[in-house]
Amino acid sequence: MIPIDPHKLPVHLAVIMDGNGRWAQQRMLRRIVGHQRGAETVKMVVEQSSLLGIKYLTLFAFSSENWSRPALEVRALMTLLKKYIRQETARMMRKNIRYNVIGNRNDLPDDVNETLDEAMQKTAANTGMVLTLALSYGGRQELSRAAARLAQDAVDGLVTPDKITTELFESYLDTGGLPDPDFLIRTSGEMRISNFLLWQLAYTELYFTETNWPDFTINELHKALTDFQSRERRFGLTSDQISRRGDISNV
Ligand code: FPP
Repeated sequence: MIPIDPHKLPVHLAVIMDGNGRWAQQRMLRRIVGHQRGAETVKMVVEQSSLLGIKYLTLFAFSSENWSRPALEVRALMTLLKKYIRQETARMMRKNIRYNVIGNRNDLPDDVNETLDEAMQKTAANTGMVLTLALSYGGRQELSRAAARLAQDAVDGLVTPDKITTELFESYLDTGGLPDPDFLIRTSGEMRISNFLLWQLAYTELYFTETNWPDFTINELHKALTDFQSRERRFGLTSDQISRRGDISNV
């Protein structure tokens, strides 16, 4: 296997953790068992990403659309999230990781919000990796909430239309302050974005694997990261321009 070059890692890695339900159903287990096994994979990916020096890791843990799943599964997922955050906060402190949350927190149960607030407060001064959990998150919903806040500021006289740039708009998103993801991994063979970080993924390199999330291993993570290292990111420029820019920045 090609070794991982620590200088060519994504600064921001985003993950759509898909296939927990199928993993469980293939084994005649309840779907929640798949989510529980998925939480073990979360531990591994958080630990590895922080160890490798990735600065931002964002996980799609619960979508706006997931509220329509059977009530039992939604409840079990909320309980699992709460348990995970509580159990892992001590490790986050040891690893200098800071918790962050994006999504519509108004829809989350109070006890989940309390647990999140506690974990975010406790880890607020940590200077290592930023672990962002996307909870009750949808890209379109995030964009419309940002537009509503911006419109309110315009009504209040704080912003005029000529001041609205991409940078200003970005500051209204839940991810304001985070760089855009460089690399997105989606497990379980589905090749779509599913309403995740619609604005932020504009130039992100995408990686899809057939493996279901509970089966995603350290080796698979390393394989994905070495694939990222082989990509040429052009951001709309030509290949020549990119290599000249590389020559200059290497001087
Ligand atoms: C998608 O699989 C996964 C989810 C909706 C939940 C993700 C949750 C976890 C990985 C565990 C808890 C998370 C954290 C951060 C501790 P799916 O159920 O849609 O799979 P399917 O498409 O096979 O049904």
